[in-house]
Amino acid sequence: MLLLGLPLLIILVIIASWYLAEKAIQPVYKSYQEMQQFSSDVAHELRTPLSAIKATIDSVILNNLTLQDSQETLKIIHRQNERLINLVKDLLILTRLDSVLENNYQISKTKINLLDLINDLVEELSCLALENNVNLRQEIKTNNDIFIFGNEEQIYRLLTNLTINAIENNQKNGQVIIFLETDKQEVIIKVIDTGIGINNTEQKLIFNRFYRINKARNRDKGGSGLGLSIVRSIVLNHHGKIAVESRENEGSTFIIYLPKIIEKS
Ligand SMILES: Nc1ncnc2c1ncn2[C@@H]1O[C@H](COP(=O)(O)OP(=O)(O)OP(=O)(O)O)[C@@H](O)[C@H]1O
Ligand SMILES: [Mg+2]
Repeated sequence: MLLLGLPLLIILVIIASWYLAEKAIQPVYKSYQEMQQFSSDVAHELRTPLSAIKATIDSVILNNLTLQDSQETLKIIHRQNERLINLVKDLLILTRLDSVLENNYQISKTKINLLDLINDLVEELSCLALENNVNLRQEIKTNNDIFIFGNEEQIYRLLTNLTINAIENNQKNGQVIIFLETDKQEVIIKVIDTGIGINNTEQKLIFNRFYRINKARNRDKGGSGLGLSIVRSIVLNHHGKIAVESRENEGSTFIIYLPKIIEKS
């Protein structure tokens, strides 16, 4: 019994330990892979504007251009520089949001009046809508003020990202509506557009970092593909939910559910 049982037991213990070790290492390996992918995406995104700036400066030096002749060149450098600044800003926001989520930190939150916030947003983005031949308006389905508990800067950022997407991915003479309603527990905000729409497969991918559907077109606009991942992190930091409904060539609706402050009467 001993002669047969002991080696069998040792083999079983080896198999079990190997299986458990494999299981334990899997999440570490996965997060290592994600980190590697993220670093390589960041490096790639930084390389493009940096190379463009270098090539532009090289051409000025090579052609011995004076400052007077270099106005166009300076504009290109300025544009690429803006892109770099925005990318670094977005990366900083994302890492801060991540560290809040992972370490359970508390972000500073106050009582926010959503009607005021949406009014400000529509006012600020009306110029961009006009430039894109898009009609931007709000539709509020309540007579009372609606309050949530949150970080005002982040909620403003969330709605700005969604509304800019809705304006920039629209068609000529399209519509963008910021819709607000409540039920007993939640505030429901919808950003509705009549734009180009997103197919089912892409709907699952657009919240990934650096994901752009039409890479060339969206990069031209200066987009880095971080906007919707910032939106998702902000929603999670506010214990909310986000959903998207869309049909190609008909339009998209991004729906945000956030816990509402229930006023005691
Ligand atoms: N309302 C929309 N209608 C159609 N496509 C959209 C809409 N919103 C987002 N998308 C698609 O999803 C992609 C990801 O959006 P996201 O906001 O993350 O990045 P971006 O707008 O390209 O760049 P950024 O927001 O970082 O400047 C966009 O490139 C665009 O192709
Ligand atoms: Mg965007």
